Amino acid sequence: MEIEVDGLEKTYGARKVLSIEHLTIPSGKITAVVGPNGAGKTTLLSILAGLEEKDRGRIFYDGAEKIPFQQMTMVFQKPCMISATVRKNIAWPLKIRGTAKAETAEKVERLAGELGLTPFLDRRADRLSAGETQKTAFARALVFDPDLLFLDEPGANMDPHALIEMEAVIRRLASERNKTVLLVTHNLAQASRLADDVLFLSEGRAVEHCKTADFFACPREEETKRFLEIEWR
Ligand SMILES: Nc1ncnc2c1ncn2[C@@H]1O[C@H](COP(=O)(O)OP(=O)(O)OP(=O)(O)O)[C@@H](O)[C@H]1O
Ligand SMILES: [Mg+2]
Repeated sequence: MEIEVDGLEKTYGARKVLSIEHLTIPSGKITAVVGPNGAGKTTLLSILAGLEEKDRGRIFYDGAEKIPFQQMTMVFQKPCMISATVRKNIAWPLKIRGTAKAETAEKVERLAGELGLTPFLDRRADRLSAGETQKTAFARALVFDPDLLFLDEPGANMDPHALIEMEAVIRRLASERNKTVLLVTHNLAQASRLADDVLFLSEGRAVEHCKTADFFACPREEETKRFLEIEWR
């Protein structure tokens, strides 16, 4: 699903936290959103996911201005778990959609397997470690097969092995199943491994948006060069 953003603005109080003239998120690709703390990454994702109001601007999803709530999902920086088992948390989006029990069980087991969560299925989700919580939130997001995924630092608390498992799943989603993924990350190595293109946000502005290889090898903007000099060596 292609997303097109025009003249987007968001202010909190007197502070303008987003001001994006134009942005196109390509369909069926992984776009990494990078930038310093407070750049507006989470705000951008929240607005695109319809969780936060914009002040100004237009957003088109495959050409239509209607937010496709049924086909998209967001995984938060600090995911919230229902006080029940991991199995029930992952199954939740299917339960509220009235999916048959056998189909739900099959999907939950398969995703848990792919993400190394099988041993956790009967543990309480509100007592997991931070990384286990993120994996569970990721599985819960994927279980209903959304077309559009907004991931806010999904691997921030994961160990290298868990990260590789999750990245493999994300890669397959885009390449084999044509899902559109917008991924906020502070891990530039992850952006370089995973993303088709990179969007660099700074102080609410889309400073640079280009193919991943170009972003790291030959950024055009001075601000991007300075950011990379500090963050990427
Ligand atoms: N509900 C809110 N009320 C007031 N200010 C807010 C609110 N949400 C975010 N902000 C401010 O907007 C700016 C952008 O925040 P945002 O969370 O989008 O940054 P970010 O790029 O995701 O940062 P980080 O890398 O730390 O997650 C910050 O200065 C933040 O303090
Ligand atoms: Mg954030």
